[in-house]
This record gives sequence, C-alpha cells and structure tokens, in this order.
Amino acid sequence: MPDSLRTCFSETKINGLALRNRLIKAATFEGKTPGGLPSEALIRFHERIGQGGIGMTTIAYCAAEADGRMHENMMFMHEGIRPELERLVRTVQVTGAKVSGQLGHCGSFTKSRELSRKRPLGPSKGTNPLGLGYGLGRVEAMTKPQIREHVRVFGQAAAFMKSVGFDAIEIHFGHGYGISQFISPKTNKRKDEYGGGLENRMRFALEVLGEVRRVVGDDYPLLGKISMTDGVPGGVTYDDSVRIAAMLEAGGIDVIICSGGTSSMNPMLLFRGDSLAPGLIAHESSRLMKIGIRLAAPFMFRSYPYEETYFLEQAQRIRDRVQCGVCYIGGVCTNDSIRRVMDAGFDFIQLGRALIFDPDFPKHAQARANYENGCSHCNQCATLIEAPGGIYCVERPANFE
Ligand SMILES: Cc1cc2nc3c(=O)[nH]c(=O)nc-3n(C[C@H](O)[C@H](O)[C@H](O)COP(=O)(O)O)c2cc1C
Repeated sequence: MPDSLRTCFSETKINGLALRNRLIKAATFEGKTPGGLPSEALIRFHERIGQGGIGMTTIAYCAAEADGRMHENMMFMHEGIRPELERLVRTVQVTGAKVSGQLGHCGSFTKSRELSRKRPLGPSKGTNPLGLGYGLGRVEAMTKPQIREHVRVFGQAAAFMKSVGFDAIEIHFGHGYGISQFISPKTNKRKDEYGGGLENRMRFALEVLGEVRRVVGDDYPLLGKISMTDGVPGGVTYDDSVRIAAMLEAGGIDVIICSGGTSSMNPMLLFRGDSLAPGLIAHESSRLMKIGIRLAAPFMFRSYPYEETYFLEQAQRIRDRVQCGVCYIGGVCTNDSIRRVMDAGFDFIQLGRALIFDPDFPKHAQARANYENGCSHCNQCATLIEAPGGIYCVERPANFE
C-alpha cells in the first residue's frame, strides 16, 4: 500500500480525540428526523456507516434552536430529544466510529411552519427565497440584543451536545445558512460593527466560535465547515476564504472543512454533477414553490460537470495558509483521489455521496489499492431530503436496510 494510503488508514487525533482513520462522514441531512425526532432509521443509517469502517460520522443539521430549522422535520438541540440522541451516539460508538454533530442555524433561510416569529431573522432586511411559498419571504434584520441571544443559543446547544455524548462538534459556517449570511457581503448589508469589511462580517462567526469554545472547553474537538466561495457575484470569494480560515484558526477551531457554494444561491457548485432541480420539483409539496424552482432553475442550478477532487486547488490555498487541521471535501470517490489529497497535506477527508452509495467505502478502499466507488453523482439522494423516509441511494436502495 502506498504511503499516502497508509497515512489515510492510520490512527490520528483531533484535539485529543482518537480516530481509527482519517475518513469522516460528511454531514448529509438524511431527512430521518420526522417532527424533529431522531428516528430508528437515522440510528440505523449512522450505525451502518460506522460498521463500514469510517473514522467519524457526522450527524447533520443539529439546529441551535427551534427557529434555526429550515422546516419542522429537522431536530433542534433540546432536552426533549436527549434519550434518542444518546442512543444514536452510543449505537454508533459501539461500531468503533466517533460521532460529530453539525451545529448550525438556518438564519433567514427557513420555511418552518413552527417559526416563533412572523418573519425570519438575518443580518439585514431582504428576501428569503425558501419561504416565498410559505408566507416567510421577507427577512427582518437582527438587532444587537438578538445577535447576542443567537451567540448564547449556540453555546447552550453545544453544551447540550457535549453532555449527550457527541465526541466532536462541527460548526456550520457555510452554504448560505445563518452564520454565513453574516459572512457574505451578498446578504450582510449592515452598517454597524457586524457589517462592512470581512473583519466585521466575521464578528458574529467568531463570537459564536468563542462562545462554543468557552462552553465545551479547550480540550474538546471543534471542526468548522466553510464555503470558500458563495459562487455568485458580490459574494464571498476564494481570496476571502483564505482570510476566513486564518481568522477561524486564531479563534480556536481545530479543523477547517473547505466546502463551497450556497444552498440558497448556487447549490450545484458544492455538488457538481446532475442538476438537483428536477428532483426537487418532484418532491416539493408547495405548488407555488414548484413553479418558483422551475423559474429559478436556469440561474440557480447552474451546470458544473462532476470531476474528482473538484475543490482541491482552492482548498490547497487554505492548507498552505493555516497550521490547524484541514479537512478536504468534495468529490472523493477513488483511492487515487485519497492519495492526491493526502499527498497535498490534508489531515482528513470528508465523504458524502460516496458513502451513501457504498457505506463500506473505508473497508473496501483499505482492502483494494485501486478501489473506485462507482457513485454516478446523479444527486438523486440530495433531492430526497424532504421525501417521506428521507434519503437513500436510488441505485442501491437496500444499502441501509
Ligand atoms: C443528501 C445530501 C445532504 C446534504 N446535507 C448537508 C448538510 O446537512 N450539511 C452540509 O454541510 N452539507 C450537506 N451536504 C453536502 C455534503 O456535506 C458535501 O459537502 C457534498 O456532498 C460534497 O461532498 P461529496 O462529493 O463527498 O458528496 C449534503 C449532501 C447530500 C448528498
């Protein structure tokens, strides 16, 4: 086995947490939390991923509060789901995998019928495309006390997650969700110290990181997922992201995960491959939204053909800039790609679709030097996040049964 593959399959640590290898399951919201409750299917899904040999899995979309959910079938961190979450975490840990939770907030990007206020909150007034068909199309700007409250809520959720047994927390700084709405000049038009230059636009992100770090302590693993670019004119650029990474490092993050794009403006940049639009239209329940997606599709779902390790060149700039851990994400489906990423100096690799296609990816890749996963990047899985029962691989529907 070449050295770079051996490195990938050797034990390592994140801030004291031992992982059996450097492969981490990426957060892929599985749509298996009906009514906000972690289901048996979710437990089974991650247990199966653990059995496949992953170093650590990530439970997607652990919302910091009820209003941090895009819709009511997402879970938020509160005592009411402690027994189910504890069982989920323990069941996966028995397989030898560690468990991380992706802590996030949708900000203004919501269509939740259970939203506690009339309008969703964001850094600035604006439009919420996701809420248009649900009477939640207008966004209200957060006051400073509301910003302080959001920071507090992130800390409270992190404390809860640690107490439940999560081995690590991944803070979601990217993809157009709440924190990245502050980072992006496209959505942050504030005139106070939370808006303007990048230092100001990063203030909320760094306050959240500082509060989460304060609450969980110095010796607890914290990862952060960023968008290296929003992929739209006037948004975050690849150049910005090198500075964003340096600021997060200075703020105490242990590992930076280098993603890109936004769910709200340019989702195909982060996925590549076949457009999500037809599947999303098919599974959308609101007729108004179906029409909206169809009309927006040519601008929103742009064509980006799939290629292996599509973020490597840009992520390399971050790898070269920071000393903390850096995790590569985006299009790793073969051992050749693992080698390339490891040779480039990355500490970890996150895998999304390839594990949905083959949950035994780590075992197979370790056993066969020329392993090729076979996921076609049809992206049907990603269009099923709100379908009854949630996601599965349409080419291998029995994977998680
Ligand atoms: C079904 C599905 C759901 C996803 N949900 C999330 C999510 O909840 N949070 C997130 O940060 N990224 C999410 N993503 C994006 C992945 O984490 C990852 O960035 C993307 O799939 C690229 O990695 P890959 O080429 O290994 O699949 C999702 C992807 C898929 C396929």
